[in-house]
Amino acid sequence: MASDRVALIKQVKDANDIVDVVGGYVSLRAAGPTFKGLCPFHDDHRPSFDVDPRRQRYRCWSCGKYGDVITFVQEHGRVDFREALELLARRAGITLEKMGANRQNPGRALMLDIVKWAGEQYHRCLLDSPLAEAARKYLGERQLSGETIRRFGLGFAPPTGEWLVQRAAAAGLSDPILEEVGLIAQRQEGNGHYDRFRDRVMFPIRDPRGQTVGFGGRILPSSPLSAKGPKYYNSAATPLFNKSEVLYGLDQAKQAGQAAGYLAVVEGYTDVLMAHQMGVSQVVATMGTALNARHVQHLRRVIPKVVLVFDADAGGKTGVDRALEIFVSQEVDLAIATLPEGLDPCDLLVQQGPELFRAALAGAVNALEFKLNHVLGEANADVEAKRRAVDSVLGVIALAPEMPGHAGAVKRELVVSRIAHRLGLKEETLWARLKELRRRDAQTRKRGDAANVSESPRPDRAEPREALAPRCEKELLTVLLADPALVSEAAREIAPEEIEHPGLRQILESLYRIQEIGETPDFDHLRPLIDNPRLGECALGMQETGRQMQDRPAALRQLINEFRKRRLQAKKQELQDQLHAEADHTQAVELLRQLQNQTVG
Ligand code: UTP
Ligand code: MN
Repeated sequence: MASDRVALIKQVKDANDIVDVVGGYVSLRAAGPTFKGLCPFHDDHRPSFDVDPRRQRYRCWSCGKYGDVITFVQEHGRVDFREALELLARRAGITLEKMGANRQNPGRALMLDIVKWAGEQYHRCLLDSPLAEAARKYLGERQLSGETIRRFGLGFAPPTGEWLVQRAAAAGLSDPILEEVGLIAQRQEGNGHYDRFRDRVMFPIRDPRGQTVGFGGRILPSSPLSAKGPKYYNSAATPLFNKSEVLYGLDQAKQAGQAAGYLAVVEGYTDVLMAHQMGVSQVVATMGTALNARHVQHLRRVIPKVVLVFDADAGGKTGVDRALEIFVSQEVDLAIATLPEGLDPCDLLVQQGPELFRAALAGAVNALEFKLNHVLGEANADVEAKRRAVDSVLGVIALAPEMPGHAGAVKRELVVSRIAHRLGLKEETLWARLKELRRRDAQTRKRGDAANVSESPRPDRAEPREALAPRCEKELLTVLLADPALVSEAAREIAPEEIEHPGLRQILESLYRIQEIGETPDFDHLRPLIDNPRLGECALGMQETGRQMQDRPAALRQLINEFRKRRLQAKKQELQDQLHAEADHTQAVELLRQLQNQTVG
């Protein structure tokens, strides 16, 4: 099924020449082998926008935007990948029957039915089955009530391995569709399927209308499987469910949000459950990603004010900067609430009851004020410190995408005037500096090409933007994106956890996952799994670079070696640290022996 989708993507791309499509929005002029025009993505005064018919790619030499015909429609029309594909298919007269995205498509309804069916199985299992004894005990220890469990439809997936597979067979359901929604997978060796969720508490993820579209599964802490997999695990990204835009609990939080005048956003499933259980129901959670523009679109449909809940430490500086970026670039009022150090909302609620949490929400501070308080607190009266403070605020604003139209202009004016007031500076001075910073950003991006991941992508987890991707990590992805046949070899040798750069790690994980389900791990399969357009751009750039490489298999072998050395180096460091900390002589000798056996070339 998924390969049909990929064939369709290719068909749609082949049927839509990039010059025709872009030419519909931007006036283009032939210039040698390419076409040039004014860039539609920034305020362009001379033609910096280049469309290459041979490679079917566009690139702006000034603002750095880069992509193919689908990304163009995505960015230009501010629509998601699926909508862009639909638009282009319609433009080329291709019927969408095969596409899971099509609302009339029976595939979608079928998937919804399957997910709902599975949710009921897991739920009943949790409530009644002897297999779920440990799960019931765990949820009891976490003080989640029976009512909460029923209201959110929590369930349990037993550890046996074929529990769901067998129930599906008994119910006469077909395997491929269960596979498509990511509940079961094909065995590597031999035939047959196995359950992907084993020994996990199941959290149904529902759309705003309350239909289950996917699951999050938490491993039981007592499970023998807990050492192997991640703590939480999601069902597959499907046309129903995209983990980077879904908000857990939104269906249950809508009314309370309207009554409270805002929706509060926390990080975890359990935070949402406990808040609702204690009567604070205007709470939803993102799913392991930082709040992004698409979340905001969903939230705004309920109420245009959002309170982002941070732990005192966890939110950190990058979290605040991201929040500010969203505040200035989206039509939303965004405030930040801070919790006492080290406690997530669930812990806080269980330990202290709802009052402190309510107080934290009530005391939320607008994202801009929050940032200003923060930088001014650091700056004091020192002139240079204050100048840096100005840059630290304006720097975030300069990087934020501009909100279009008059609403955008109004918001920018308000923001700048507020900063001027708080910092005691003239507005003109701030506008000038802002312009300067914007120009500098555009230049930096122009210099680094799209493959230079150190500055272009903004990984979803708040991570320092300047986090440099180590060269070998970048090269690994460059090779793999250009040569999907090499992915299986890489998967045997290099674990995703070894990748430090969060964006690259996400790409590698996705490639492995595609490979695991038996599809070709190429860019077209990858794209639906990465939500961050800059990361997509960057993957495309790396693919391009990789295609120009000479001997990719040899390059991969070389890289596998480098990763091996990195591992050994880390191991050696660890042993050395232990050795320094070791008081016992015989232990120390043993460590020393191990250390000498480590050969780090
Ligand atoms: P946390 O690690 O804070 O989990 O991750 P939690 O919600 O407090 O869960 P408990 O209390 O340990 O049971 C916060 C969120 O990040 C995502 C999940 O959405 C989780 O709710 N996450 C976390 C994952 O997707 N995968 C993981 O392995 C861990
Ligand atoms: Mn927790």
